[in-house]
Amino acid sequence: MAFSSLAAVSALFAARHVSAVLMVNELAVTPQMGWDNWNAFGCDVSADLLQGTAERIVEIGLKDAGYHYAVLDDCWSDGRYSNGSLKPNFEKFPNGMAAVADAMHDLGLGFGMYSDAGRYTCGQYEGSLGHEEIDAKTWASWGVDYLKYDNCYNDGQSGTAEISYNRYEVMSKALNATGRQILYSMCNWGQDHPWDWAYLIANSWRATGDIYDSFDRSDVRCPCENKDGIDCAFPGFHCSVMNIINKVVWFIHRSQPGGWNDMDGLEVGNGGMTDDEYKLHFTMWAALKSPLIMGNDIRTIDAKSYSILTNPAIIALNQDPAGASMQRRWRYYVSPTDAYGGGEIQMWSGNLAQGDYVMVLLNAANQDMHMNATLADIFVDNGGAQSAEAKGSWDLYDLWANRMPDSVANRILGANSTANATEYLYNATAKSYKEGIMANETLLMGKHIGSVKGLGTVSAVVPKHGVMAYRMRPKTASTYKRDEL
Ligand SMILES: *[C@@H]1O[C@H](CO)[C@@H](O)[C@H](O)[C@H]1NC(C)=O
Ligand SMILES: *[C@@H]1O[C@H](CO)[C@@H](O)[C@H](O)[C@H]1NC(C)=O
Ligand SMILES: *[C@@H]1O[C@H](CO)[C@@H](O)[C@H](O)[C@H]1NC(C)=O
Ligand SMILES: *[C@@H]1O[C@H](CO)[C@@H](O)[C@H](O)[C@H]1NC(C)=O
Ligand SMILES: *[C@@H]1O[C@H](CO)[C@@H](O)[C@H](O)[C@H]1NC(C)=O
Ligand SMILES: *[C@@H]1O[C@H](CO)[C@@H](O)[C@H](O)[C@H]1NC(C)=O
Ligand SMILES: *[C@@H]1O[C@H](CO)[C@@H](O)[C@H](O)[C@H]1NC(C)=O
Repeated sequence: MAFSSLAAVSALFAARHVSAVLMVNELAVTPQMGWDNWNAFGCDVSADLLQGTAERIVEIGLKDAGYHYAVLDDCWSDGRYSNGSLKPNFEKFPNGMAAVADAMHDLGLGFGMYSDAGRYTCGQYEGSLGHEEIDAKTWASWGVDYLKYDNCYNDGQSGTAEISYNRYEVMSKALNATGRQILYSMCNWGQDHPWDWAYLIANSWRATGDIYDSFDRSDVRCPCENKDGIDCAFPGFHCSVMNIINKVVWFIHRSQPGGWNDMDGLEVGNGGMTDDEYKLHFTMWAALKSPLIMGNDIRTIDAKSYSILTNPAIIALNQDPAGASMQRRWRYYVSPTDAYGGGEIQMWSGNLAQGDYVMVLLNAANQDMHMNATLADIFVDNGGAQSAEAKGSWDLYDLWANRMPDSVANRILGANSTANATEYLYNATAKSYKEGIMANETLLMGKHIGSVKGLGTVSAVVPKHGVMAYRMRPKTASTYKRDEL
């Protein structure tokens, strides 16, 4: 029967243990978090930029919120020495790269580095194709902890999963052979279906073309809008937040502890979206288990971007030990009430540790929408209306209701100190997200706003281009206990 086999499959996923998953190294058991300079600075990199950013990541509590890696993107090198080793640009990095790595480590951060599985990087600097071993050794000798590995100028070595796999595997082996734990972040833009194979060799893989700072603008440089991404032969760039969400929906469940679909770096704080749009962007990246890599200027971050990026109840979705992405349960197009009122609405849900669920109402229409999610739809994977879950009662926690007020954020940013903000900031250095979730920490749960009865409906007015996000917890846990497989 269709329902019981569906329920069995979802129980299998829920019961999956990290130890049973093939892992390429010991890293990214939950999606990696950090900062990368590309979205805000492009090629304009320097030791000063990394130092200033890293200091502030620590001072304003972003490190303790979980943002561990400071990643230097393209344009840092200056060719190769005659012995074949990559040479840093000493104008940008006067003391070389080992000094930068040391400085990051002194601050308690991991240091990320960039290269390309091609002849050149995307910025036309030296690539690592054919130089994998020597480059991996160089990075390990500098103390690098993370590699973002791009896909430009790959000499046509793509087109089938096997060709792409073979090209990216060489670096995976070279990194492993250094003996240093280096997080391997593959950036091949979803070419050749990396969700089918990259978990064997990498910790994350870019799933689409490059993001840009727009909610839903269509752009010819990011094609395949109407093919929903699965067979997009030309990933492109300038992909909007909604474009990326609607492309990854088909394979997002292929993430697993140690290997994640990467929806690209965050644009929160770069100025191209409204506050509601940035909240939606951050919520979806978190709940779809994308790496959370900030892409804004941390030295000039404003209060609203800060309170989005530090929202503990949302980060807890990303760092949840179950490691399961939520799934889209429905998508409807709504008719315009005026020339610009239409668009799409979606409902997503998925399981979290401790028998909790996440449910997100997403409104991409150009007007506020009264949205309704039935428990039968939220729990369609468990058997829909026939399931114990849909028949049970649930407590609802609003994951944005406890957002840090601007006044508190401005105090922290003005003083470069997180004093007196424990009411809003979670310290994952003191207690990991996993431990905090197991201890039912209020900061990670969100605000209790009520409950929904068996076979009932969760309703909310969702702002234009916004989300409502909920943690759902069974009122009587024992009622829906599944048989363990
Ligand atoms: C190549 O030369 C550079 C500059 O002297 C040096 O830093 C690097 O360690 C050398 N690489 C190898 C593999 O010896
Ligand atoms: C090398 O790979 C093995 C599994 O193939 C893994 O257990 C080990 O942690 C890896 N080592 C490093 C340094 O990545
Ligand atoms: C949600 O339910 C309310 C109340 O029944 C209704 O007015 C509204 O149109 C529904 N929303 C949608 C998107 O169907
Ligand atoms: C806080 O840090 C920023 C960025 O590093 C700096 O510009 C500012 O002067 C600092 N403020 C204080 C009060 O130290
Ligand atoms: C934190 O609170 C204490 C006691 O109320 C106060 O003395 C101190 O100035 C506050 N610190 C900041 C950075 O606001
Ligand atoms: C977070 O906890 C660690 C370890 O207990 C502590 O060293 C650090 O100062 C705390 N950070 C903040 C921002 O309070
Ligand atoms: C956390 O909440 C769950 C579900 O209500 C409960 O089973 C568990 O005992 C709680 N854990 C702690 C440490 O209070």
